[in-house]
Amino acid sequence: MHLPKAELHLHIEGTLEPELAFELARRNGVTLPYATTDELRTAYLFDDLQSFLDLYYALMAVLRTEEDFAELADAYLARAAAQGVRHAEIFFDPQAHTARGVPIGTVIEGLGRALERSEEKHGISTQLILCFLRDQSAASALETLAAAGPYLHRITAVGLDSAEVGHPPAKFREVYEEAGRLGLRKVAHAGEEGPPEYIHEALDVLGVERIDHGLRCMEDPELVARLVADRIPLTLCPLSNVRLRAIDILEEHPLPAMLAAGLHCTVNSDDPAYFGGYVGDTFHAVHEALALDHEQLRTLARNSFEAAFLDHDEERRARYLSEVEAYVFD
Ligand code: ADE
Ligand code: ZN
Repeated sequence: MHLPKAELHLHIEGTLEPELAFELARRNGVTLPYATTDELRTAYLFDDLQSFLDLYYALMAVLRTEEDFAELADAYLARAAAQGVRHAEIFFDPQAHTARGVPIGTVIEGLGRALERSEEKHGISTQLILCFLRDQSAASALETLAAAGPYLHRITAVGLDSAEVGHPPAKFREVYEEAGRLGLRKVAHAGEEGPPEYIHEALDVLGVERIDHGLRCMEDPELVARLVADRIPLTLCPLSNVRLRAIDILEEHPLPAMLAAGLHCTVNSDDPAYFGGYVGDTFHAVHEALALDHEQLRTLARNSFEAAFLDHDEERRARYLSEVEAYVFD
């Protein structure tokens, strides 16, 4: 769907399509435990977040050089452009690469090379969000932020991802305080598999401005009232929620109820190579499965630009918002 939109919840490593994974494996002399792309795709049946993360981290073994990261990001941007994305705020997981001996500079400079050309080549403005792996220690997160020091001009915000349950936001209080001192914006995954308390904690202890997922807020009416009153954006990922079994089927996704409650919902793709669709596909899927009408889709697109970190360029935000209003559905 070509409706102009911002993508605010997208893990660049989750855009690694099997074809590119095999090409990079060949180039870098990495042996994958799958004979073909079809065989790899048969592994894309997940029971929960952890079962996905196991494959997601394993496949990253093929990403080694700056050029690999540049190609990965460029391939994503080309796909996103074809689905109406005009602005993308892109997560990356530096610890998943430094743990394999790939320097953080290789990751950031490689991604940066593709992002620098994005506006001219794909018509997409971009930002980078450095995520900490919450199932690693707080000390490791602090080391990662320090290692990113020379590259902070390329980074807009910090985020928190990976296995949620048992790793509450408060574990990362110190690193978020440091990120704030460095002038970085703050987001965190919360309420994907973890309880509503993690959403409260991400707001109260980490001071995040957006909640990634936030699905489980619906279990806590007071939390919903707070999120509505403070207009905290939620970056929902409906196809991910189905694939990782947070909900059984897309038809049961609470997105319509969340919109009706007045929550500032956005719709995003999370890890599109693994979850069956990019963000335009996701808009199409919620249109069909949840009977969202065109004006509700327009609201989701408008919300995405309103929630974007475009405060430094309000003219651009206004331009994108006028594209949303001018869009004619076919
Ligand atoms: N890393 C990549 N995708 C993720 C997700 N859906 N939740 C947490 N961490 C992730
Ligand atoms: Zn995510």
